[in-house]
Amino acid sequence: MFSEEQNQYILLHRDVRNPWHLDKKTVLMIGCLVLPVTLFCATYMVLFGVYEKLTYPKLSLSGFRSPETVDHIQHRASVYNYINPADGFFIDIQKNSHFEEYLHSHELSKKFKLVCYYNFPSDQQSMQINDIDPNLCTHLNIAFGSVVNHSIYLDNEHLEYLKDIVKLKDKNKDLKILLSIGGAGNDNGFPEMVKNHTNRKSFIKSVLSYVKDYNIDGIDLDWEFPGEDMNYDPKQKMHFTQLLLEIRKTIMRQEKHKFLLTVAVAAPNVIVDFAYDVSYMNDYVDFVNLMSYDYHYYTGVTPFTGINSPLYAKSSELFYLATLNINYSSHYWNYKGMDKSKIVIGLPTYGHTFRLQNPRNHDLYAPASGYGKLGTSGFASYPSICNFLQMNHITPIFDMENYSPYASKYYEWISFDDDQSLTYKTEFIKSNNFGGAMVYSLNVDDYLGTCKMGSMGGKKFPLVNAVKSILEGNTS
Ligand SMILES: *[C@@H]1O[C@H](CO)[C@@H](O)[C@H](O)[C@H]1NC(C)=O
Ligand SMILES: *[C@@H]1O[C@H](CO)[C@@H](O)[C@H](O)[C@H]1NC(C)=O
Ligand SMILES: *[C@@H]1O[C@H](CO)[C@@H](O)[C@H](O)[C@H]1NC(C)=O
Repeated sequence: MFSEEQNQYILLHRDVRNPWHLDKKTVLMIGCLVLPVTLFCATYMVLFGVYEKLTYPKLSLSGFRSPETVDHIQHRASVYNYINPADGFFIDIQKNSHFEEYLHSHELSKKFKLVCYYNFPSDQQSMQINDIDPNLCTHLNIAFGSVVNHSIYLDNEHLEYLKDIVKLKDKNKDLKILLSIGGAGNDNGFPEMVKNHTNRKSFIKSVLSYVKDYNIDGIDLDWEFPGEDMNYDPKQKMHFTQLLLEIRKTIMRQEKHKFLLTVAVAAPNVIVDFAYDVSYMNDYVDFVNLMSYDYHYYTGVTPFTGINSPLYAKSSELFYLATLNINYSSHYWNYKGMDKSKIVIGLPTYGHTFRLQNPRNHDLYAPASGYGKLGTSGFASYPSICNFLQMNHITPIFDMENYSPYASKYYEWISFDDDQSLTYKTEFIKSNNFGGAMVYSLNVDDYLGTCKMGSMGGKKFPLVNAVKSILEGNTS
C-alpha cells in the first residue's frame, strides 16, 4: 500500500503516468478498430506494389564479379561525371567556327575494326578463356597489365592466361592480340614511368620483350588520365606524348616483331584538352579506342538518371550536356587532329543503374538517390539487365534522340544498350567513316546466351555479334 505522501504524489502526477486517462475498455475498442485497418493497409501495399517486390537475377550473371574490376571502371565513370561543367571552357568549343569547317573532310577506311576488351578471369564463375569466340573480333585487348618499376608487370597466373589466349590465333590467324596496360584505377605506375627518358626506356624494353616472348601483336595504353592524378604535374601530357613517340621510333627500327600501338582515350572534351596532344598522337599511334561511355553515372554531383552512351544530344540538352554523346566526342577527336580512320568508337555491353528518389518521376534526368540494386556500384552486365527485365515483365523505352533504351520499375532505373541501339551506333560509325567499333567488354555481354530478348536472343555474344554484322554488312 502507498503512504499518504505517495498517494498525494500519485494524485498530483496522475496526468503524467496516464495522460489520456484510458481505461481497459477504451484501449480494447481502439485496438479493435485500428488493427483491421493496419492489416488491410499492409496487405494492400504488398499486393499492389507500394513496396518494391522486384526479382533480381543471380550474381553469376553480373559479369562484374571481382570488386576490383568494378573499382577500376568506376574510377573513370566518376572522373567523367565529376568534371565541373561550370568551368566555362566547353562553351567556346561550341562556338568555334573551325569545328564546322573540318566536318567536310573525308577519309575512307576500307575495313572496319572490331576491338574487344577481355578481362582476365577473376574466378571460376567469370568468363573463361574457352568462352572467347576467336572469330568474333578483329582485335582482342587483354585487360589489364600494370606498370611496376617502369616495366610491364603481370603475375604468373596472368602470364599463363596470356599464353593460353595467344593460342587462339591458331584458330584465327588474322586475330590481333594486344595487352592493355593500366585501366582506370590500375594505372598508378604511369606518372613515374613517363617522367624521364631512362624510365621510359626501361618500359619500352619490357614492351619489346613481351612482344617477342609472348608473341602478342601490340600494346594498348590505358592511362586514365595523363595530368589527372593527385600530384598534378603539368608536364604529364607532354611526357606521355614523348613516350608514344619513342615507342613509334622503336617500332620503326624493328625488322621483325613490328607491333601495334594503341591508346584507350577519354571522351569528354574537357579531359581531351588537358590530357592529350591529339595531333601529335595521330602521328604515333595506330589508332585510339575512344571510351565513349559512362557519360552519365550516379555520383554526388550528378544525382540524376542519364544514358550511359547516348549517340546524339537530345534537343533539350544544352551547353556542356550537349557534348556528352558519341557523336560529339568522336567529331571532337577528329577536329583536334586524329584521323577518322584512327578513331575506334567505344560501345558498352554493360549498363548503369540508378535508384530513383520518386518512382513516379522516372524520365531522363529524374532525381536519383544512389545506384540501383541491380548490378555492382551502378554497373550491370547485359545478361543481368536482360534477365531482370524479363523476370519483372518490364518493357524498356527506346529514346529516338539518343538511340538508347532505358527502363524503370519502382525505384530501379536502368540505362543500357541492346542489339537495336548498337545497330544504330554501328551504322553511325560506318556512315561517318570512323575506324571501327571498340567494345567494353566481352565479359559483360551475354557470352553464354542465357537471355532471350531481342532479335539475337539466345545467341552467344548477342551484342558484339550485332555490331559485327553491321560492320561487315554492305549497308551503310
Ligand atoms: C621493384 O623494385 C623493387 C626495388 O628494387 C623490388 O623490391 C621489387 O621486387 C620490384 N618489383 C617487381 C615486380 O619487379
Ligand atoms: C629518372 O627517375 C628515376 C625515379 O623514377 C630516378 O631514379 C632516376 O635517377 C631518373 N633518371 C634521370 C636520368 O633523371
Ligand atoms: C553531330 O555532331 C556534329 C559536330 O558537332 C554536329 O554538327 C551534328 O549536328 C551532330 N548531329 C546530330 C544529329 O546531333
